[in-house]
Amino acid sequence: TTVDLAADDYELGGHPDFMRKEMAEQPEAVARALRGRLDERFATAHLGGLGLDPMALRAVRRVKFLGCGSAYYAGQMGATLVEELARIPADAEPASEFRYRNPVVDPDALYVAISQSGETLDTLAAVQELRRKGGRVIGAVNVVGSAIARECGSGVFLHAGPEVSVASTKALTNMTVSFAMLGLLLGRVRDLSAASGQRIVSGLRALPAQIEEILTEDARVQQVAKRHAHARHMFFLGRVRGWPVAREGAQKLKEISYVHAEAYQSAELKHGPLALIDADMPSVVVVPHDELLAKNIGTMEQIRARGGPVIAVTNAEIPEGLADEVIRVPRGEPELDPILLTIPLQLLAYHIAAELGRDIDKPRNLAKSVTVE
Ligand code: AGP
Repeated sequence: TTVDLAADDYELGGHPDFMRKEMAEQPEAVARALRGRLDERFATAHLGGLGLDPMALRAVRRVKFLGCGSAYYAGQMGATLVEELARIPADAEPASEFRYRNPVVDPDALYVAISQSGETLDTLAAVQELRRKGGRVIGAVNVVGSAIARECGSGVFLHAGPEVSVASTKALTNMTVSFAMLGLLLGRVRDLSAASGQRIVSGLRALPAQIEEILTEDARVQQVAKRHAHARHMFFLGRVRGWPVAREGAQKLKEISYVHAEAYQSAELKHGPLALIDADMPSVVVVPHDELLAKNIGTMEQIRARGGPVIAVTNAEIPEGLADEVIRVPRGEPELDPILLTIPLQLLAYHIAAELGRDIDKPRNLAKSVTVE
């Protein structure tokens, strides 16, 4: 596969920096990832690059996602999607941990190596370790011809287009979109019904316009950011579908604003971190419209009761006065919520970093692609 790069891929085109440009490009990037891959007739996805026929897909007993940083969090979103849609066990692990712990390689598992750059050394080493032990590994890579893409030999290209900003936005979104298609494909050769498959196909098709809608909330998120930019610490909380979203939100904030952010599973709050809540510790709570809504409302109440400011990122109706700030996203298919809920957290991190005058595209101490130990 070759990708034609327009000259303006590496130019700002009127945007103040690449992160902003790349966030704005997400609707078209997602549309590109979906192009030619959704099948209305059989309510499934086509991922020809995987090189797995239906029998091989059925033989997969477990899926393990491997990546570093945001790619690992995308893998965690992918694991939730695969478990929900295909009902096979799935999890994610940082590639660095995997490579160093003498992993048991399961011959019935499908391993997915995730990397925007395709050059991250820890992820490449995990792939090599897997191949050496006879594991089946596919890539979820953005850069065609990169080391990880070559080493894997098969997989799904992300088609996000070149990503210049150190903070990953559109590539991460396309990772999660690709994993939704993988989950759909694995589900449809198992017990996911045609009606449920069709629901996911339609949900995926709706994403570009929904992301466009979220991006129009930019000024609102900027106001929220201005009000909280001078907090020294922030919590990011979520559960199940919202948990990797919270982790990714905290990662973005740390990376570009240097504000200390910590992500927790909401239910873990009462087991220790609740002691940190006070008026100077805002909590960003990820609240999908799903069966855990009442639990998430409880989380917000717990924080409010201790005087902590609450920023809710949600597609649900939440009781008036429960959150100090509400950032709304459109409602789609619940399984796909993590994809949409992640976008406002990018905007929040961006505007807090901008408010603090940070060098957004090139945060201190970080490189776009980590090719060393
Ligand atoms: C993302 O915002 C980070 N800059 C970082 O965590 C990144 O996702 C990680 O280094 C992995 O990079 P890769 O996707 O190119 O392998």
